Amino acid sequence: MTRPSFDTHSPAWRALEALRPGAHATPLAQRFAADADRAARFSATAAGLTLDYSKNALDEAVLAALVALAAERQVDGLRDALLAGERINRTENRAVLHMALRAPQGAGFAVDGVDVMPAVVAVRERMLAFAESVRSGEWTGHGGEAIRDVVNIGIGGSDLGPRMACEALAAEAAGGPRMHFVSNVDGHALAGVLDALQPETTLFVIASKTFTTLETMRNADSARAWLLDAGLPRAAIARHFVAVSTHAEAVSAFGIDTANMFGFWDWVGGRFSMWSAVGLSLAIAVGEAGFRALLDGAHQMDRHFAEAPLAANLPVLLALVGLWNRDFLGYPSLCIAPYAEPLARLPAYLQQLEMESNGKSVRLDGEAVGVPTCPVIWGEPGTNGQHAFFQLLHQGTDVVPVDFILPLRPSHGLPDHHRLLLANGIAQSKALMVGRSAEAVRSELAAAGRSADEIARLVPHRTFAGNRPSNTILLPDLSPRSLGALIALYEHKVFVQGALWGINSFDQWGVELGKQLAGGIADELAGGPAGAHDGSTAALIARAKAALDDDAA
Ligand code: F6P
Repeated sequence: MTRPSFDTHSPAWRALEALRPGAHATPLAQRFAADADRAARFSATAAGLTLDYSKNALDEAVLAALVALAAERQVDGLRDALLAGERINRTENRAVLHMALRAPQGAGFAVDGVDVMPAVVAVRERMLAFAESVRSGEWTGHGGEAIRDVVNIGIGGSDLGPRMACEALAAEAAGGPRMHFVSNVDGHALAGVLDALQPETTLFVIASKTFTTLETMRNADSARAWLLDAGLPRAAIARHFVAVSTHAEAVSAFGIDTANMFGFWDWVGGRFSMWSAVGLSLAIAVGEAGFRALLDGAHQMDRHFAEAPLAANLPVLLALVGLWNRDFLGYPSLCIAPYAEPLARLPAYLQQLEMESNGKSVRLDGEAVGVPTCPVIWGEPGTNGQHAFFQLLHQGTDVVPVDFILPLRPSHGLPDHHRLLLANGIAQSKALMVGRSAEAVRSELAAAGRSADEIARLVPHRTFAGNRPSNTILLPDLSPRSLGALIALYEHKVFVQGALWGINSFDQWGVELGKQLAGGIADELAGGPAGAHDGSTAALIARAKAALDDDAA
């Protein structure tokens, strides 16, 4: 379907603009005081997850106008086009069907009338069987020894998802091999991992959709050289390297037996690919049952997204609240604060998901969007963040909305930690909202016996205005099922925001120029002819080349 062109003069947009001044007229704390049902009114549950968005500067009128905007922008029609396998990624002429990867056989996803499910299920079953054979020791290295270490070599979407999820689900990984992830072309990354490994018991998973990505190919070449330098024969490559890719020729040219290649399709974007064979490392880590549960959690969220009305649809609500904060209240970033150490890589994962998808300035029709799009996504797990950047969240000059993510049950058995963790997460969202008035600071200091002078001096420093927005997402636990639902929630949020802004969330042309320039500069550093550069770039290349030549001498 064709998208409605973006229009800031549309009735819904203008209604929201008219509501904007009211957003700050009533502080959040007062909104709660005036409405005992506010939390329930602005919360929704799906696939086991609860989203509480009540600590945002909105009321029913704003919410109704946001939902009207979603209707005006035909989000439901675009969602149906997405699910119908239409080529909505128009700049690359591709469908976008990562939902098929977590759907059961017979789900009916099709591209150009061809059912994709038989191929999806075939690769899924082959990949899970392979993962189990590595876990069980049935798949051995060249010398017949079981695999003790798996190294996933990939970058971006071929790294962040499985890496994040392996860490998040480490508690499910008992009995499997040790997992390692190498993405950066910085040799410190690969060298640091290889130092501790034995080639005879190591399996490399080379994950690259294109099988041409510079970082991945450099690391894969070095890993192969490490194996051969250790005295293993070329024939060993087939037992120690497998590939996840759409590019069979390049895989074969590298020396990997295509029988050990797990494919996927052009309708799976890199940052949406952890559900495909790109999840192989994760499947090896958590096993078949864990991986299937992850897929099922995501599928439950897909069904909710496909079926729930806009006003009760978790991804739609998360997207609309985000758009309100970004476009109408002007907040330039979004902090992701998982209160779960195992979700330490979630902010990095969501950075790619959101910023590579919606960090764009033009609409699908080539015109400027004209309003701010994706905020800067960043964050760290709580409670660590509290002792680092939360000062700015509470008292800094920018208002930064926060997504607090709280699994209600831990994956460890240590007593009492989780009570303290949850208490802190909940306390932070409250503190951001209520702040601390000058009056409260004065009474506290007076009660502590401070002098009037001291009180006058300290009050401005210890006062904070509060009224700072946040969402809280509650997960029942940190199981594969909950994680799957959480990631699918953010994936669909990204789609909805892209639809609202009229942009293509599924290409990433902005990363190309840097890659091209790096290729030319790498040649120059190797002694190739100098390119045409500005003064700064030329001087930097000269200094880098001098250092490299020095080291080579
Ligand atoms: O950074 C650009 C990008 O194309 C990402 O979109 C992608 O996830 C990553 O590079 C890795 O690509 P590939 O899987 O083809 O190696």
